[in-house]
Amino acid sequence: MKGIILAGGSGTRLYPSTIALSKQMIPVYDKPMIYYPMSTLMQAGINEVLIISTPQDLPLFERLFEDGGRIGMKISYAVQKIPNGLAQAFVIGADFIGSSGAALVLGDNLFHGYCLSEHLEKANKVKKGATIFACKVHDPERYGVVEFDESGIALSIEEKPKNPKSTYAVPGLYFYDNNVVEIAKSLKPSARGEYEITDLNNVYLEKGLLNVEVLNRDVDWFDTGTSESLLRASSYIEAIEKRKGTKIACLEAIAYEKGFIDKTSLQRAANLMGNTSYGDYLKKILDSKV
Ligand code: G1P
Repeated sequence: MKGIILAGGSGTRLYPSTIALSKQMIPVYDKPMIYYPMSTLMQAGINEVLIISTPQDLPLFERLFEDGGRIGMKISYAVQKIPNGLAQAFVIGADFIGSSGAALVLGDNLFHGYCLSEHLEKANKVKKGATIFACKVHDPERYGVVEFDESGIALSIEEKPKNPKSTYAVPGLYFYDNNVVEIAKSLKPSARGEYEITDLNNVYLEKGLLNVEVLNRDVDWFDTGTSESLLRASSYIEAIEKRKGTKIACLEAIAYEKGFIDKTSLQRAANLMGNTSYGDYLKKILDSKV
């Protein structure tokens, strides 16, 4: 399966777009926000990623990751000229996806948890249909919301409903089979003028091909779309990193663990980082101290 990160465009509520600051380059505690969705795809075992962003922001990501070789990845880039919906990622990324399946993660969504890799690897292995997730939240009206029947079968998904039918939100992480490209091409814009990911998910649901996995308390999820949630995410990352003495979303460490890079490449990355806490952490991994 290939991966797409949609970074920028719709949903930027942190500050007006006239302020020339790329949201996904803002640090969440000790590293740029985009490291977190990248780490999510890597934990799923995906090493080919397309980053889609605005014409203004894309060059920043290209400078940050280049071709991805440094972390054992193959990273390419594409522009979304108009922020007209998440489902457009599969139309823009059609050539990149080719005949494979595709996972999409939103550039401002952070996931962390001890069973996360298991959930992700499982979703990555599914050959037919789609897998999305559901998380209990206190403010479902901000999200796509899943309604379940008593036996836990998904009945409907609504985008930002005024009267949510449940408190289960759909986080910005989706796994699809290759049909996603054709389905995305067939969608019509919603009342707010966007090609909605929820409409795409509803096509899979109607066909009986949508698997909705509830992420229980073992996985934490943040949509850093507001200043409050961004601050909460930073504090969370700081607390866990300090308590455990490990780094969350350390791409070089994940690449090494997944076998995307060897020890020599990790050593090179550690040297490049110099005397920073990030560099020290990579050196500790090389010395097997983490
Ligand atoms: C998007 C999706 C929504 C999903 C959310 C997760 O909303 O449209 O269904 O629940 O991401 O972060 P946005 O945050 O772009 O408004």
